[in-house]
Amino acid sequence: MKKILVWSIYTRVFHVLAMVMMLGAYLSSGEDKWLSIHASFGYAMGALFLGRVLWGFLDIPYSKFKDFNFNFAELKSYALNVFGNKKQYLGHNPASSYAIIGMMVLLLLSIISGALAYGVQEGMGIASFLNHTVFAKMKIFKEVHEFFSNALVFLIAAHIAGALLDRLLHSKLILRSMVDGYKEGEGKSIQLSLVQKAFGIVWLGLAMFALVYLLASPKSVLLADNNPRVDYATLHPAFAKECGSCHMLYPPHLLPKASWDSMMSSLENHFGDDASLDAKTTQSIKTFLDENSAEHSTKEAAVYMLARLKNGTMPESITQTQFWKKRHQGIEKVALNDPKIGKISNCKACHPYIEQGSINDRDIKG
Ligand code: HEC
Ligand code: HEC
Repeated sequence: MKKILVWSIYTRVFHVLAMVMMLGAYLSSGEDKWLSIHASFGYAMGALFLGRVLWGFLDIPYSKFKDFNFNFAELKSYALNVFGNKKQYLGHNPASSYAIIGMMVLLLLSIISGALAYGVQEGMGIASFLNHTVFAKMKIFKEVHEFFSNALVFLIAAHIAGALLDRLLHSKLILRSMVDGYKEGEGKSIQLSLVQKAFGIVWLGLAMFALVYLLASPKSVLLADNNPRVDYATLHPAFAKECGSCHMLYPPHLLPKASWDSMMSSLENHFGDDASLDAKTTQSIKTFLDENSAEHSTKEAAVYMLARLKNGTMPESITQTQFWKKRHQGIEKVALNDPKIGKISNCKACHPYIEQGSINDRDIKG
């Protein structure tokens, strides 16, 4: 048997980039503050795989979709003979042919649902306009995104397990072909035309550029924070002045109307302090708080906070809501030990734009 070049340098670099970008997306999915990084990896992978799909229509042996093996009978015999002496394939074997198509479809679905979740839930990126319209359904998009991306991770794990098993049971060359492109067998080595080479360079170059560009430009159209920052001092001077004199200004959307009403009717005993104001100012601030309470907001925090309120319960403070407690489990200790923060109700130490009504995930410090 002779050594044949089956994977061109472009296909191999694509494979490495796909691994790196997938790992990046996977690792950055854990924490809210890395959300824009996660989205950058997602979009860059979109560019990378779009190129791979086009690559599959070029006349390049082994890599083109026409050479994929979708023969179901062969897939069955391949699977049944994993431990036996199964047939060796020069290009993609039936299992990896199906896996690759599956990965492409799941990746596409993950990117679309991810962009929608990013827009609906966070008010960010190209789908941010949806935050003002379908926000009530915001949870669905995130769940759909998690479903598709978990399925993708599962398929990738199976793909890796398959390759490792192959390496263990059969040819040592399978994994090496990922690196040097060669396999053993009967067939012809590939040779790319000038146009195909140019396509490869542009494709991989653009995908890498997309990643670097997105990571460096959080304000780009795909990632931009389109939540307006509110200037409460102009919107309602009395609220900004009176309610920001003892502590930072808490945005009205973080509590339901009932909580504000109760607070505003007992200002003389406000968490142990006397915060009372004249009747006219009190009424004016109360109206403002009511009109901008959680019920009137499309922000993630407001929608989730309301959803978590048990029927009939009315939180007396933001830090008493279930939603808030859940999000800050374990963070309280950090705050107490850090002299720059002091107490957990000093929200702006960790959420720099909270006094402008914005608690964006990617702004979170600490
Ligand atoms: C005289 C000082 C004072 C004034 C004026 C004042 N507050 Fe407070 N406020 C406090 C204290 C003290 C606390 C409890 C300790 C803390 O969380 O900082 C508190 C707590 C709060 C909390 C709960 C924060 C949490 O931890 O969840 C909210 C909401 C709040 N105030 C809103 C307002 C609003 C609205 C106004 C304006 C009508 C106002 N405050 C004016 C002293 C004041
Ligand atoms: C010591 C830092 C710290 C302080 C102080 C703090 N937070 Fe947070 N907050 C965080 C972190 C970290 C997260 C993200 C938790 C996660 O990943 O789910 C968060 C998440 C949130 C979220 C959810 C964000 C979203 O859109 O998913 C809200 C709302 C929020 N904080 C409000 C507040 C308010 C209001 C205060 C003050 C009463 C406050 N935080 C004080 C660190 C802090």
